[in-house]
Amino acid sequence: MHLPPAPNSPSAIQILRWIFTPMSYMDECASKYGDIYTLNLNPNYPAVYINNPDALQTVLSSDTKELSSPGELNVIFTFLLGTQSVITASGKQHQRKRQLIMPALHGERMRAYADIINQVTDSVISKLPIGAYESIRNVTQTITLKIIMQAVFGLYDSPRATELERVLSDILESTSSPLSLATGIFPILGKVLGKFNPAHNFDTLRQQADKIIYEEIQERRNNQDSQTRVDILSLLMSARDEDGQAMTDVELRDELMTLLTAGHETTATALAWAVYFIYKNENVKTKLLEELNSLGKNPDSNVIFKLPYLTAVCNETLRIYPVGLLCFPRRVEKPISLCGYDLEPGTLVYGSIYNTHRRQDLYPNPDEFKPERFLERQYSAYEFLPFGGGARRCIGLAFAQFEMKLVLAKILTSYQLELLTKNKVNPKRRGLVSAPDRPIYMNRLS
Ligand code: HEM
Repeated sequence: MHLPPAPNSPSAIQILRWIFTPMSYMDECASKYGDIYTLNLNPNYPAVYINNPDALQTVLSSDTKELSSPGELNVIFTFLLGTQSVITASGKQHQRKRQLIMPALHGERMRAYADIINQVTDSVISKLPIGAYESIRNVTQTITLKIIMQAVFGLYDSPRATELERVLSDILESTSSPLSLATGIFPILGKVLGKFNPAHNFDTLRQQADKIIYEEIQERRNNQDSQTRVDILSLLMSARDEDGQAMTDVELRDELMTLLTAGHETTATALAWAVYFIYKNENVKTKLLEELNSLGKNPDSNVIFKLPYLTAVCNETLRIYPVGLLCFPRRVEKPISLCGYDLEPGTLVYGSIYNTHRRQDLYPNPDEFKPERFLERQYSAYEFLPFGGGARRCIGLAFAQFEMKLVLAKILTSYQLELLTKNKVNPKRRGLVSAPDRPIYMNRLS
């Protein structure tokens, strides 16, 4: 097989660069090799990375025949999400799980979340002391965690919710450094590092989280009022498969853990970047405020959701520093030609969201934050894909966009903030996703 070009450095160097400096490595590869390249990160599977929109369309829209997206390729998530999560499921079971979860994160149900989003944002921001330094990502993470707790369990600020929020934050912190990713790939490194391994107390934390989640499931099973609740846990508990079987406790736990973690870290980072860019660019802030103020007092959440400039600001934020750098891997099942290369069955193909969003032909001056791009041009689903595409496209896409817009609208119209971090902030790896490379400090003025 003739694979697309690859860096000629030894595999160990490629792995280290991929773990510690993924963005500059991907930039380097795309500028050298263009639309498609190979990285030798795993001796068992050749893996190619694509950023050509036509090739992305072929890969992401062909979910069963030439290419598949089996859950076993996402095994790196099982240490946290277990083996029964939608992320690790394949084929029919994967589709069924998506169908079960989707309704809770789409359509009319979103209206019910508007009040929660406004209420949580107010309660968190109003408690920030005036004049004190705050890292905006810590603030947005508190907001998104409380919101997802409410959507998933229908509760927050109860002692159990507060404890789970604390444990989840600690879990995600312990797995956020590049070093903990390295210990996941090379378990021997974790043993050598001992208590200096950033994830050394991970098992204890996961057991604490599991205990709380199983207690909540048990309490719902014993409690009649769960029939009338509309949160995601209640929906999943009342769902039945073709044979009339309900989900087991382990299935429920894995699904809840998936939604709780995938559902808040990502949005917290996207919101932190949005706040950074809005307050760094005075003209962007002024335009946004004009648009928001034109709606008058207490505008409808759906009207806020459809605002063109707010949408452009959110899109540009997700474009310039996408939180997910890659789509989940797809596996070639039948020989297929991509960008002039014939790929054999077994090859893994990664859609590179990061490289696509930095293509000069689509986004001139890609390092410039320019929301107007999204007003001047309509991008296809394979040119702008912060939520991936095809069979594994993000389940929380609508929820995340709704949440981003309402939180930003609330902050901008109700509070005065000031950006204290004046130097350029860059993205860095945070576990399997990306995040700001240092705290972005904000000060609340009123
Ligand atoms: C700004 C916020 C978010 C971003 C940028 C984001 C990004 C992504 C990306 C890139 C994927 C992989 C898609 C693919 O391979 O084609 C994904 C999958 C996923 N996301 Fe999100 N996500 C966000 C918010 C959320 C939220 C709020 C939830 C849940 C409440 C969520 C749950 C999931 C799940 C469960 C999957 C796996 C879907 C599957 O395997 O079928 N995400 N997300």
